Amino acid sequence: MADEFVARSLEEIRFWSRIMKEHSLFLKLGFRCEDTQLIQEANGFYSVFEQIEAKANAFTTAADPQQIRAFNTEVCTAVSHIWVWKRKILGLILTCQLPGGNNFPLLVDHVSREANYFRNRLHELNDGQLEPLADAIIDENVFFLKIMADHAKFIGHLLDPSERKLVDQAREFSHDFDQLLFQAQDLSSMRPQSQTVPLLDQFLDQNRVSVVSLRDFKKTARDLIEACRIKSIIHPLLADHVYREAERFLTIIDMFERSLPGNSAN
Ligand SMILES: [Fe+2]
Ligand SMILES: [Fe+2]
Repeated sequence: MADEFVARSLEEIRFWSRIMKEHSLFLKLGFRCEDTQLIQEANGFYSVFEQIEAKANAFTTAADPQQIRAFNTEVCTAVSHIWVWKRKILGLILTCQLPGGNNFPLLVDHVSREANYFRNRLHELNDGQLEPLADAIIDENVFFLKIMADHAKFIGHLLDPSERKLVDQAREFSHDFDQLLFQAQDLSSMRPQSQTVPLLDQFLDQNRVSVVSLRDFKKTARDLIEACRIKSIIHPLLADHVYREAERFLTIIDMFERSLPGNSAN
């Protein structure tokens, strides 16, 4: 149980601290040259999360659970700070105080939601209180489906408009995930009566099909961007970042499928 706590904490921190580190880079790239203060703040967050990542990688699963509990709290504080910073940036953009900057408001909101998610995960780990499975299935899917729908929109807007076929594909993914998100919200609203094994199983199956195809699309886009074969203003690291987040969602879906009662793999 203690080993499980250590392993899950480290796994969560290794994944999300890299994500937080990259968010600071992406936001920095979207600031204007004269926003030197914001650029400095971005560099500061980059190094904070770089250090957290290194520390998480240095720990092993044999680490003392008390030490990991303290580490989780320390990371949680850093994540709260980056969340506040992201919301501050959103406020600046929405009040037109950064005219000409290149960070979409939806992207800033999106990265703040990811920080909030990470913070909640750390709280859950330290409190030792995981949500009941049926609630976790709906809540995680509502969260990640919105994340995937946003990614499709970002890709669609950052590809060069002359890449018409790819832009169309991105738009189709955006629509597909918006629909899946509405379905997930409907299932959520029908709680607890909707939380039957067959309905949850079907929900996961259906979401998986779309996430697999979006994941493949992102992988192709990433490879094309890295090889400089398509026109876009997508940073290669951003393409890889959204690909990793889709992989993460798939891993979570698989974990839920295995945990559903009556599943043979269980
Ligand atoms: Fe992200
Ligand atoms: Fe994301």
